[in-house]
Amino acid sequence: MSLLEAATRVRENAYAPYSRFKVGAALRSTAGHIHLGVNVENAAYPEGTCAEAGAIAAMIAAGDARIAEILVIADCPEPVPPCGGCRQKIAEFAGPEVVVTLCTTSGKSRRMTVAELLPGSFSAAYMAP
Ligand code: THU
Repeated sequence: MSLLEAATRVRENAYAPYSRFKVGAALRSTAGHIHLGVNVENAAYPEGTCAEAGAIAAMIAAGDARIAEILVIADCPEPVPPCGGCRQKIAEFAGPEVVVTLCTTSGKSRRMTVAELLPGSFSAAYMAP
């Protein structure tokens, strides 16, 4: 199954009663497995989580370590851009050259790299002694 198909399908399971904005994410790990996530909102709004965060959590729980490719989809006029926090979360597990595909449910898409999404990112390298 393609990442587009997987993210499109899983998006239907998003829990977004407050924003009514369902998001689906699918990533392929460097080990070749697909991991999925959706946004999960909460009545205490800041407790909600994004689709990308869910897919990353699923990847780590499954024992995979790195993202080879990730795709995000939502019903919006232009391809959905990951929020700032998710850009940082993706960068933790993906090299700067990794492709992030942003999609709409109507068929528009845009391919960007992690470096384009988060230039000058903070990483563990800055904490090296
Ligand atoms: N959202 C995501 O899940 N991923 C994104 O990249 C953008 C925003 C969610 C968070 C919230 O549940 C809803 O979309 C509206 O912000």
